[in-house]
Amino acid sequence: MQARLIRGVLLAGLCLSPLASASAESAYDAGTRVFRLDGGDVTYAFKVDGQGLLQSVYWGARLANGDPVDSPAIKGLSGFDVAANVVPQEHAGWGGGLFAEAALKIAFPDGNRDLVLVYAAHRLERDGVTVQLRDISRPVNVTLRYTIDRDTGIVGRSATIVNGTAGDIRVDQAMSGTYVLPVGRDYQLNFLTGRWGAEWTRQQRPVSAGATVLESRRGSTGSENNPFFAISRAGATTEADGPVWFGALAWSGSHRITVDQDVAGRVRVTGGYNPFDFAYRLGAGEKLETPIFYAGHTGRGMGEASRLFHRFQRDTILPHAADKAPALRKILYNSWEATEFKVDEAGQVALAGKAAKIGVERFVMDDGWFGARNNDKAGLGDWTVNRQKFPNGLKPLISRVNALGMEFGLWVEPEMVNADSDLYRAHPDWVIAFDGRPRTEGRNQMVLNLAKPEVRDHLLKVLDELLTTNRIAFLKWDYNRNWSEPGWLGAAPADQQRIWVDYVRNLYGILAELRRRHPGVEIESCSGGGGRVDLGIMGLTDQVWASDNTDPVDRLLIQDGFTQAYAPGTMMAWVTDSPNWLNKRSTPLSFRFLSAMQGGLGIGTNLNHWVAEDFATASTYVAAYKRIRATVQRGDLYRLVRPTPGDVESTTLYVAADKSQAALFTLVQGTHRLDPRTPIRLQGLDPAARYRIERMDGAALPEGVPAVASGAYWMGRGLDVPLRGDFQGAGFILTRGS
Ligand code: GLA
Repeated sequence: MQARLIRGVLLAGLCLSPLASASAESAYDAGTRVFRLDGGDVTYAFKVDGQGLLQSVYWGARLANGDPVDSPAIKGLSGFDVAANVVPQEHAGWGGGLFAEAALKIAFPDGNRDLVLVYAAHRLERDGVTVQLRDISRPVNVTLRYTIDRDTGIVGRSATIVNGTAGDIRVDQAMSGTYVLPVGRDYQLNFLTGRWGAEWTRQQRPVSAGATVLESRRGSTGSENNPFFAISRAGATTEADGPVWFGALAWSGSHRITVDQDVAGRVRVTGGYNPFDFAYRLGAGEKLETPIFYAGHTGRGMGEASRLFHRFQRDTILPHAADKAPALRKILYNSWEATEFKVDEAGQVALAGKAAKIGVERFVMDDGWFGARNNDKAGLGDWTVNRQKFPNGLKPLISRVNALGMEFGLWVEPEMVNADSDLYRAHPDWVIAFDGRPRTEGRNQMVLNLAKPEVRDHLLKVLDELLTTNRIAFLKWDYNRNWSEPGWLGAAPADQQRIWVDYVRNLYGILAELRRRHPGVEIESCSGGGGRVDLGIMGLTDQVWASDNTDPVDRLLIQDGFTQAYAPGTMMAWVTDSPNWLNKRSTPLSFRFLSAMQGGLGIGTNLNHWVAEDFATASTYVAAYKRIRATVQRGDLYRLVRPTPGDVESTTLYVAADKSQAALFTLVQGTHRLDPRTPIRLQGLDPAARYRIERMDGAALPEGVPAVASGAYWMGRGLDVPLRGDFQGAGFILTRGS
């Protein structure tokens, strides 16, 4: 009751309540000065210490109401490590003897660079708390926003820096905050690295003194280090059990997450804007907001950490999350691998007819339809239809696609320009570059400076026109290089480095405005594959492209890495030609389907080369996919056998939230001798319910597998699926109560 009364009231320094004031999720104890957030199975607590510093207190399994949540005053270790450095600060200013990673570093015009942030005020809110910090002597204010998700316990943290001085200040480092783990000696850092064609490689290394830095300096998310971390405990954490602390930054620009063990043995995880080449001028009264850094905890293993994060993304992050039932991904056809730039009306119409026959729902035309685009050397920037290829514009093709019962989608790469384009000829100063220096090209293209208002306005206008004049239901939004020479032509030198933030904010603005004006249009984030996948872009796009590598074996590894962090329902996966264009591996069509059906299904083969048997195989799997896709895209993923490079073997299970259906995929790259396979024991089913099992391809069940058995049977006894040979696989559907 007390909490309700004070909720929403800004409490300046003093809490007006009696000792404890609590809502379901957030509470402040004025006696101990401890803030406590509870959600899901998680408690997160921090306090105002004797010096006014905001100190981490606890982050882990949910505690009981009334449990004592506090920590003793932390003193310095020695004259070398004074208290400010040893206190695990939630949001440390660089100053006051701090050597650990700072959340905020500021340079004042008089040369002072010392910043000590202390508590000023707070406000409890329904889903969290806002805490106001300020420097001990100068009017620099930082508002920390904490949220906790009621269902998953995932905490969100961001900071807004306000320059209350009368002049400019320069922000040299602005992080969203620091997460602190309990003291421990056996932590392992799990993270995701990659490069083009080989994204989402899962890495693991011990956490010890000496920082591990996960970062992008590329101007966008990049695939080198995804802004995701998961910290497990050696010996204690497995896929199915043990503690995991995990999180990700909602930011699609240069980012940095630093994981370090400090001199007192505490592991600190600090994430936010990458401070490399960062310098953000804040004029008097101006603000800078950091991205949100989300993080969660579970005691039930790496698998549960992923499931919690997936659920959080579906329910909170994705564009239609508030609907509680985001639209299912449409089965799409895309001709890129089949035709590359050689698109024209007749060719696309022919492919569309064939795609419709197998049950495709969305036909997407890729690169090559605009400007003087016949290869990657020209045309980017000129988003008008190429009249040689489409003499009557896009309308005849779109009408044909619609008449076949499919939606029409289109590839665009709005942020880029070729030197050989009308746009570049008209506006050479619109690209990111330094004056008088060479402009490095990647894939023969340059990056437009979206931080410039005129570039932002132009792109919004062009895309809005495209969507207004054509019946386009889907955009594949590509981004095929990273930044170089990151100059902002025409901007004052002191403002040049705002580009790292302002570009991304304007990109988000364009996407948000397009969605507002065209609410029926869905968007895919693609960056030459999985180079721009993060919680920021996912808030504004409906699906993402995980990799240009469409080989079904490599994909099992890619998908295993991707789903550590991100929801399978966002991850598009295509069935493409064999031998695969990238690694030349030949695989059966059924194997390619079973691999691609584990995300949002797409087909990217050259359908002109298919024979009747291929169409029949495809129709069978497409029909099966339509039956299970709600479970694959919205259900819980259990990685029963995780693939490792070498002879890849993968078994994944997707269970509907209400446990009414499950989809099981088991695939092997190759088998040896007569080695037996271990029984596949399912998880997450209702033990008391009865489930009927069938194969996705309609074939007979393996010998000894009963048609109907209890959830307890499938989880305890399991099923034997003997696979022999190369590139073998089987998919099963379990249906409850039948
Ligand atoms: C990128 C994408 C591909 C395709 C090409 C087109 O590489 O990842 O899927 O769209 O661009 O140029």
